[in-house]
Amino acid sequence: MSGSLDEFAERLQEEIFQETKKTYGEAVFQRWLTPRFMGALPNADGKSKVTGKCGDTMEFYLKISNDKVEKALFWTDGCGSSTACGSMAAELAQGKAIDDLAEIDGEFILKKLGGLPKEEQHCAFLAAGALQEALRDYFERQRQKKE
Ligand code: FES
Repeated sequence: MSGSLDEFAERLQEEIFQETKKTYGEAVFQRWLTPRFMGALPNADGKSKVTGKCGDTMEFYLKISNDKVEKALFWTDGCGSSTACGSMAAELAQGKAIDDLAEIDGEFILKKLGGLPKEEQHCAFLAAGALQEALRDYFERQRQKKE
């Protein structure tokens, strides 16, 4: 009995995976399944917490040294698309010069993910906004240190 229930659950999961892959594409699917660079950095040099209009929250953490991103992590309580977008934003930020982080905007994240359905494109802008806000926080801390 439980064997057939397990088989049913496995089949259902496989169907959901296939459907998700078909709708969202491989890049989004992989990051939804196994997000990269997800977590928090307690000793971040810049961090942010941004809530989108949808009510979901994205956090971003940056460790910066010699004007380069040493480590970038994100966290979200949002949908699968926001997880994929946060993951992509964090991946793109790794090792980047801070002056080049501005190029990681919502459009760029969408392009790198191969797009998202229209109603979920705002997730990319939430991720980009959180990344840029963490960078702004970094600059603000630097400014305060100099005072
Ligand atoms: Fe709100 Fe994805 S971030 S629906």
